[in-house]
Amino acid sequence: MNAMLDKIKELKAEIEKASVSAKEEVEELRIKYISKKGLVGQLFNEFKDVPVELKKEVGQAINELKELAVNKINELKEAFESADQGASGVDLTMPGEPIKLGSRHPLSIVKNEMIDIFTRLGFTIAEGPEIEDDWHVFSALNFPPEHPARDMQDTFFIEKDPDVLLRTHTSSVQVRVMEKTQPPIRAIFPGRVFRNEAISARSHCIFHQIEGLYVDENVSFADLKQTLLYFARELFGEKTEIRLRPSYFPFTEPSAEMDVSCSICGGEGCNVCKYTGWLEILGCGMVDPNVLEACNIDSKKYTGFAFGMGIERTTMLKYGIKDIRHFFENDVRFLKQFESAN
Ligand code: PHE
Repeated sequence: MNAMLDKIKELKAEIEKASVSAKEEVEELRIKYISKKGLVGQLFNEFKDVPVELKKEVGQAINELKELAVNKINELKEAFESADQGASGVDLTMPGEPIKLGSRHPLSIVKNEMIDIFTRLGFTIAEGPEIEDDWHVFSALNFPPEHPARDMQDTFFIEKDPDVLLRTHTSSVQVRVMEKTQPPIRAIFPGRVFRNEAISARSHCIFHQIEGLYVDENVSFADLKQTLLYFARELFGEKTEIRLRPSYFPFTEPSAEMDVSCSICGGEGCNVCKYTGWLEILGCGMVDPNVLEACNIDSKKYTGFAFGMGIERTTMLKYGIKDIRHFFENDVRFLKQFESAN
């Protein structure tokens, strides 16, 4: 039966060497060797005549031969298939294009930081509509009828109905919360606001605010100051100092504006703080009793403080960003710089 082993050896060598120049020839090879009537198939037929003592050796050799033939034919077939795909412009063996991951927008990063800080102090988050009415944006907040903010120059109104407008601050949400809830109230109000302003490096007609409100018995200006000091140090670093300057808002009395020591130069003076060492970041004050009464809260029993700031402005000061328009352009070269701040 050595003849059979010789034949197997011969076929093995033949198959190993086999090469083709067209796809159809691969099919010819398949028929020649591994179809039912092919050469390998014939060997299986002849196997029954192999003497018992050689069956093991010959059987193994035939199986090896079959495996070799199947692998070789598959290999040749695949070579043609990927060549075909190359011609049609799609090569499935190419490594995939990496999917670029996005990262959080700087405004979201800073907003989330602010929310984190105030939730640690027990403030909850409330949201309200961007399309508002005069009552919630102005009247309940003690704006006199002739106040310039009520002018079309400053606020976006709907032409047909002067009672429909885009909120100019999220203080409107303070009103909505006070109307629904009796003190103690401790909440912050993040959201988008709209002002009829020309777009420039420093101002935009759409931006974001976070305002805060705390109403309870015996809330004092000292509580306001301590809350804001804690906030400033958490956001800008523990060495940060704050300074309150008297100011005016219709809805707070007394009112103040808060500056923080410049986080870029540490108060030495640089072009971000315009060499003053201070950055103005928010407005605040004690809630005017008229506002509490407009919202059905007893102003003899309760007092409160409120504050509000622009998220764009604070983000610009924190990172030394010179132009507010960067936030809305979504240029990845800008956004990429905040990847690690996520
Ligand atoms: N609503 C004010 C603004 O939009 C900010 C502010 C809120 C000031 C609360 C004082 C108290 O500018």
